[in-house]
Amino acid sequence: MDHFQRQDGELYAEGVALRAIADEVGTPAYVYSRATIERHFRVFDDAWEGQDHLVCYAVKASSNLAILSLLAKLGAGFDIVSIGELERVLRAGGDPAKVVFSGVGKRRDEIRRALEVGILCLNVESRAELEMISEVATSMGKRAPISMRINPDVDAGTHPYISTGLQTNKFGIPWREAREAYRLATALPSIDVMGLDCHIGSQIADAAPVVEALDRLLSLVDALQEEGISIHHLDVGGGLGITYEDETPPTPASYAAALRERLKGRSLRVVLEPGRVIMGNAGVMLTRVELVKHNGDKRFIVVDAAMNDLIRPTLYSAYHRIVPVGVPAEAQDVVDIVGPICESGDFLAQDRELPRLAADDLLAVRSAGAYGFTMASNYNSRPRPPEVLVDGEAVHVIRERESLEDLWRDEKIPWD
Ligand code: LLP
Repeated sequence: MDHFQRQDGELYAEGVALRAIADEVGTPAYVYSRATIERHFRVFDDAWEGQDHLVCYAVKASSNLAILSLLAKLGAGFDIVSIGELERVLRAGGDPAKVVFSGVGKRRDEIRRALEVGILCLNVESRAELEMISEVATSMGKRAPISMRINPDVDAGTHPYISTGLQTNKFGIPWREAREAYRLATALPSIDVMGLDCHIGSQIADAAPVVEALDRLLSLVDALQEEGISIHHLDVGGGLGITYEDETPPTPASYAAALRERLKGRSLRVVLEPGRVIMGNAGVMLTRVELVKHNGDKRFIVVDAAMNDLIRPTLYSAYHRIVPVGVPAEAQDVVDIVGPICESGDFLAQDRELPRLAADDLLAVRSAGAYGFTMASNYNSRPRPPEVLVDGEAVHVIRERESLEDLWRDEKIPWD
């Protein structure tokens, strides 16, 4: 459930007309709903009530300080993948003791900073990384809390670019080699084994592969216990899908129920790393129609947002619902919604049946709250759009639109 609803035909974010926001900040612009973010977090968190757990929001989905602050206030921990994300979390008031650090290529300076601020756990993806962490921790006179990220070799059944749990992916340690890796962890200096981790992919539409991965993890927990290696927490990653078009992913409650069924009778803490399910449907991208263009039989709606603002359609063939902000016309056309960038891949939708559109019409690209702004770039020297948070009747600009000067602020002409 989200708080983007129509009132008298006009699309609103909570109590504010999206048209009013477009008038205020211009287009393209990202708009998030605070009530939706809070609702999504609570529903996800409540599904684990009665089980020792920690929801570590995956910062990469949407990393604006205001969003992180909001989630920190709700008690969220954070799943980070870089020092940039760590510093954002700290800057937003997040608790470092609730931070897990994922990623296949952490640098020494990143590991050092994570140990300095005292994060909950480093999710380790290789023996080489384990050795590096041990070295860094020893040089600091500290102990490093770690989980090994296990690659369970199950197919999440999602887009190949966002599927991570297969042996052919670069992620994690093959599950058959996991015991060896834990033996190494206990033998190395300055390492504290905390948990076991996996993340098999994103936009997962069915709990079954996650349950399968969990079963593999649990059999490992038992095997390790026999060797005297205790696992305190189990990190099952993120990945729960959302409805973009007509997908019917499990609800957070049924997803939790499927996993909890397997955890009965065990005293393990569960860590979860959701990103998309919290933010995806809590944000829209507003864009305005520049002009309508016909090439033979094809009808192109040229808008002022482009692949640099929202890359998901072209990168993953992702579907985003696109709706007029105003009252939709009766007549329908089959159109491509395209941006002004000089690439045929610059589209937001292809062969889409939409209410008839005209220049100046305002559109909302739905489900753009996750991996929208965070994947935006300056390609074609386009300033990145502003981010706006609606809270009831209040409109907060939580990131200004970049200026033209921002584009070249850090550049230098050597002979000037
Ligand atoms: N944990 C780890 C270790 C991850 O790699 C990811 C996402 C998550 C958690 C959060 O997954 P989520 O709950 O959001 O599915 N840019 C792509 C998605 C890439 C996901 C990368 N990892 C997209 O726009 O669909």
